[in-house]
Parts: sequence; C-alpha cells; structure tokens
Amino acid sequence: MTDRHQAALDAVTTAVTGEPDAQRATERAVQLLAQHLPDYTWTGIYLLDGNELYLGPYAGKPSPHTRIPLGRGICGAAASEKASIIVDDVNADPRYLACSIETRSEIVVPIMLDGEVLGELDIDSDKPAAFTAADQKLLEQIAALLAPKIAGTRIRPADHP
Ligand code: SME
Repeated sequence: MTDRHQAALDAVTTAVTGEPDAQRATERAVQLLAQHLPDYTWTGIYLLDGNELYLGPYAGKPSPHTRIPLGRGICGAAASEKASIIVDDVNADPRYLACSIETRSEIVVPIMLDGEVLGELDIDSDKPAAFTAADQKLLEQIAALLAPKIAGTRIRPADHP
C-alpha cells in the first residue's frame, strides 16, 4: 500500500472503531476514503436487501442507480460472486451500468460476515485503470471493519431528489 492508502486506512480505522453508530460509521468511511484518495471520484456503499442492492452513504455526484438487482452491473456481479472486481475500462465491460459519463474505471468489494454478503464498497474513478491490488487490499480491510458494525442494522437509503 502507498502512504496515501495507509493514511486512509488509519483514518477509517480510527473513525469506525470509535463510532458505535453503524450509520455514522459508514458515512465517515466513505467521506474519509474520498478525502484521502483523489482518484476516488465517486465512493459509495450499497447494502443488500433481498435480491437487490440499495445505495446507502456515498461521496460524489448523485447516482441514478439507487437500486441494483443482484444479476445486474458490476455491483450485482461482485455481490453474486462474493468477490472483489476491478474493471480497468468500464466502457469495455458489458456488465457496466453507467453512473457518470466521466467514469473510466471501477472497483467493487463485497462487505461480508461469515460468508454472507451484507453490502459492498463501490468506487468509480475518472482515471482509466485507477485501481490496483493496493486499493483492493485497503478496501477489503475496510469492508472487514464495517461488516460487524452493519450486521443486524438497517443503513438508511441515500436521500435523492
Ligand atoms: N457502475 C455500477 C453501478 C453503480 S454506479 O457506479 C454508482 C455497476 O456497474 O454496477
């Protein structure tokens, strides 16, 4: 991990471990990631609700995809496969659901507890191939921090106009 990634991990770890409220913990996590990592143009958390993901806290422009069925998009694929997905060129991936015309690459990391998907971290970048193994490692560690916080709670859907 780079110094920037380590600083982001330290900041999120401090904020999340010191925050008993799951809603606040998820909000702080997305804010701190977006602040520390300039390539993270859009940073959000989707939560699993039956066979759909709904958008919770996010930092960036409003997304048209506030609900995504499990079979759709890169988000749906990561949740179904229970695996992180990095897409270097979103326009070359037929699964991709466009959020912004500017987006060039994306990473999605499931948030899991005891093998069950609770949600996922979804990051878009305006830079092509912005995400590396360091991003995956960072986000998997943050997902592991968030999982026990959000288990058994209901994170509010994002407010959209
Ligand atoms: N690109 C995602 C949809 C969510 S937006 O990026 C916020 C996908 O393909 O699932």
